[in-house]
Amino acid sequence: MRQRPLGRGAPPVSVVGYGGMHLSIAGRPPEDVAVRVIHAGLDAGMTLIDTADVYCLDQNDVGHNERLIARALGTWGGPRDRVLIATKGGMIRPDGRWERDARPERLRRACERSLQALKVDRIDLYQLHAPDHQVPFEDSVGALVELQREGKIRWIGLSNVSVAEIKAAEAIGEVATVQNRLNPFFREAIETGVVRYCGERGIGFLAYSPTGGGRLTKKLPAHPVLQRLSSELGFSPHALVLAWVLAQGPSVLAIPSARTEAHVRDSAVAGDLTLSDADRWAISEAHFDRS
Ligand SMILES: NC(=O)c1ccc[n+]([C@@H]2O[C@H](COP(=O)([O-])OP(=O)(O)OC[C@H]3O[C@@H](n4cnc5c(N)ncnc54)[C@H](OP(=O)(O)O)[C@@H]3O)[C@@H](O)[C@H]2O)c1
Repeated sequence: MRQRPLGRGAPPVSVVGYGGMHLSIAGRPPEDVAVRVIHAGLDAGMTLIDTADVYCLDQNDVGHNERLIARALGTWGGPRDRVLIATKGGMIRPDGRWERDARPERLRRACERSLQALKVDRIDLYQLHAPDHQVPFEDSVGALVELQREGKIRWIGLSNVSVAEIKAAEAIGEVATVQNRLNPFFREAIETGVVRYCGERGIGFLAYSPTGGGRLTKKLPAHPVLQRLSSELGFSPHALVLAWVLAQGPSVLAIPSARTEAHVRDSAVAGDLTLSDADRWAISEAHFDRS
């Protein structure tokens, strides 16, 4: 599969990585199925897996997705050292709710727990899941810089941030990646200049919910432009949308999730799919209804 650098100072990875979230939140498949889905992604050439400590059901299940990934990597027959793992800290799941908690001491504890769950001595990419507005942003980023100095994490990433926040973080440490939402329904990462800024700085832009997320993804097969392109080009609407996302900037990577082997394989197909200017433009100009 096509490769691009994971981010500033980091080596190339597959342009389509695997997002683990749906293997661990409500509606998740049995663990044996989940392991097979991860293996299918790796076998299809994915060399990046995105996870988070909070991809789980609630506070009693924290680390579920990270443990699953460790299990899948431990039982995979391929070259483990070619696969980079990106995880996140800075959120909590009290009674299943999603809340932010990016206090420095909390991030440190979360990182220690992720090291154990992933069964590694050092985390490849550790991302601040989201700025916590109860905590000075610089303090949260500062905690990641300390973890990096101590050798517990290799590269620092941010998620759900603006250009101003990326710049504020860069004043404290090197930002390797930014992970924000980007899909044809939600284009704010383009409109606010985050994708462009990342491209200019060599910061990897990890597009999350790249096909719209659980609910909106289901609308893709009925979209008239995607239907037309799909029958002309012979690719699924899902793969066409991933190719559109990857075309939005030189440092963009996509991390779609999937709960089936067929879905993860179809995502991987997009890694070698380059749209013509006309086809890319047709998707850019089309309306994607979010209702
Ligand atoms: N940083 C953040 O705040 C944040 C927030 C959200 C997500 N993320 C990351 O981004 C990843 C992806 O986000 P997401 O899950 O919200 O959105 P997504 O990848 O856009 O959508 C996932 C949905 O797409 C479906 N799908 C996958 N391949 C398909 C195919 N070939 N045909 C039809 N449907 C297909 C999946 O269905 P099945 O499940 O049935 O296979 C799943 O329901 C997550 O795993 C996580 O790593 C990060």
